[in-house]
Amino acid sequence: MRIVLLGAPGAGKGTQCKRISVRYGLLHLSSGDILRQERAAGTELGKKARGYMDSGGLVPDEVIVEMMAEAIKKASQKTGLVLDGFPRTVNQAVKLDESLTGNGQRIDVVLNLNIEQEVVSERMTGRRSCPKCGAVYHIKNLKPKVEGKCDNDGAELVQRPDDSLDVVKNRFRAYHEQTKPVVDYYKNNNTVYDIDANRVVDEVSTLVFAILDTLIEVRSDRRQ
Ligand code: AP5
Ligand code: MG
Repeated sequence: MRIVLLGAPGAGKGTQCKRISVRYGLLHLSSGDILRQERAAGTELGKKARGYMDSGGLVPDEVIVEMMAEAIKKASQKTGLVLDGFPRTVNQAVKLDESLTGNGQRIDVVLNLNIEQEVVSERMTGRRSCPKCGAVYHIKNLKPKVEGKCDNDGAELVQRPDDSLDVVKNRFRAYHEQTKPVVDYYKNNNTVYDIDANRVVDEVSTLVFAILDTLIEVRSDRRQ
């Protein structure tokens, strides 16, 4: 199964994708996480992306499309995918569809996390991430077992530099101008499920799992 998760910055894409990936055994590919890894490793790609990310703008399509095509290609044909933060422009969505179609594949389901802007601001200012494994926490909503330390590897949790107020403003602008049209693109080509992402983490997961469980059941009925 190939899933795309759409949603504004801080809507909870990463949080829900991790849970989806564990529950259904899918590979979680986050374009933002891959870019941050490239930056940490000091690669050319990471250097190219830095300025765009730090200002809250989008990294150019050609860089992202190539990077994600490479990541998807590396994934085993047998493993399904959950895509987080990609595609983020209509052009990226078209390029993704073209490359999947070339391999006889398609996006099976699109989940769109809907959220109010005030809710999102609180989530972003309270977010803490593990620089080692990418796990995401929140100082109030999703606390680690030991304050400031990652549950998985004990690394010191950090605040993402692009969670500062002025950068967040630009990330929202990019979302409204460039990413919202992706929802309409998918509404014309796929089935899009709108999810109320204002709810607490477990409730959002329950909504997401109910949709995916039903789809998986329908697919297995069809095969029998
Ligand atoms: P990216 O890393 O993708 O950032 P984003 O889309 O802005 O989204 P976030 O990661 O900030 O939020 P999220 O929705 O994953 O929320 P999370 O689960 O962490 O991209 C960063 C940058 O890279 C971009 O600005 C751009 O420059 C570049 N880039 C990436 N992809 C690109 C592309 N395709 N094209 C071009 N450029 C690209 O949750 C947020 C917080 O809230 C956490 O603390 C979490 O614990 C908490 N939380 C989550 N859910 C809930 C809930 N239901 N209730 C309460 N708290 C919650
Ligand atoms: Mg994320």
